[in-house]
Amino acid sequence: MSAAAPSLASLDLDAEIRRLKRERNAVFLAHYYQESEIQDLADVIGDSLQLAQAAQRTQADVILFAGVAFMAETAKILNPERIVLVPDMKAGCSLADGCPADRFRAWKARFPGAVTVSYINCSAEVKAESDWICTSSNAEKVIRAIPEDKLILFAPDKNLGRYLMKKTGREMKLWPGSCIVHETFSLRKLEALRLEHPEAVLIAHPECEEPLLEQAAFIGSTAALLNFVEKSPEQTFIVATEPGILHQMQKRAPAKTLIAAPPEANCACNECPFMRLNTPEKVYLALRDLEPRLEMSEELRLRAKVPIDRMLSLS
Ligand code: 13P
Ligand code: SF4
Repeated sequence: MSAAAPSLASLDLDAEIRRLKRERNAVFLAHYYQESEIQDLADVIGDSLQLAQAAQRTQADVILFAGVAFMAETAKILNPERIVLVPDMKAGCSLADGCPADRFRAWKARFPGAVTVSYINCSAEVKAESDWICTSSNAEKVIRAIPEDKLILFAPDKNLGRYLMKKTGREMKLWPGSCIVHETFSLRKLEALRLEHPEAVLIAHPECEEPLLEQAAFIGSTAALLNFVEKSPEQTFIVATEPGILHQMQKRAPAKTLIAAPPEANCACNECPFMRLNTPEKVYLALRDLEPRLEMSEELRLRAKVPIDRMLSLS
């Protein structure tokens, strides 16, 4: 009779994950919004662009992607021959979910000749319908690469889109989507916090709403926010994005004071409910069972790859 499998609670999960990573020849990619324990186990921690670039470079047999599904989809689009694992397949995204491909196609059809730029936070189907993909760190560069005489359709984040319109002076048609996490910050509580910490510098992700962005001293992707905190001569920062990023910020700038921007309700709703579906237990199980795997048809993959390659060659 074979011995019963040990219960998860009795395992040294960190050691097991490290062992399985070696055995499977796996690379472990994690977004800055993952919980600290997951970040500490990852081989690469990054923003959406850095993780797509890491997926493009890898020679590993298995990519374990601790982020959300659209990120793992991008990794699969770039790596058809590798196994791409997602600890929890239900890790979606309000931006991607709010932009179904059939409605996106109908929207596009209303503006013949326009150039479509989609934020990477969208499904593979929407990517396949887009001319360009961008992330928050290269969006401005992508918009500036499009000829002035072209109308741009930007989807699915209206807040990032509005911010880019201001930054570049380009008129764009915006898909009316938003991130449930970045719209949760309370201006009222932020004002009280800034009275309490008048020395604090407010920094924000461009997925935040316009009234908050107007107050921010610096706006950037998660990687840009991290670099800003590290390099800035200032000591105290209020950070308006998902608080998972504070783990790397504190590691890179241990002497600085970091305050997470508060949500309106008394809840942890500034934490992304999708990102936080991933746990070390699910990471372990994914590596052990090589499931759940991200799969997609070759036809869809090839179409979605075109605008991603265009973005990566510009970045
Ligand atoms: P970046 O990783 O590009 O900063 O975007 C954050 C995000 O929305 C991830 O969901
Ligand atoms: Fe999507 Fe917002 Fe979560 Fe990022 S933080 S995965 S944009 S819901």
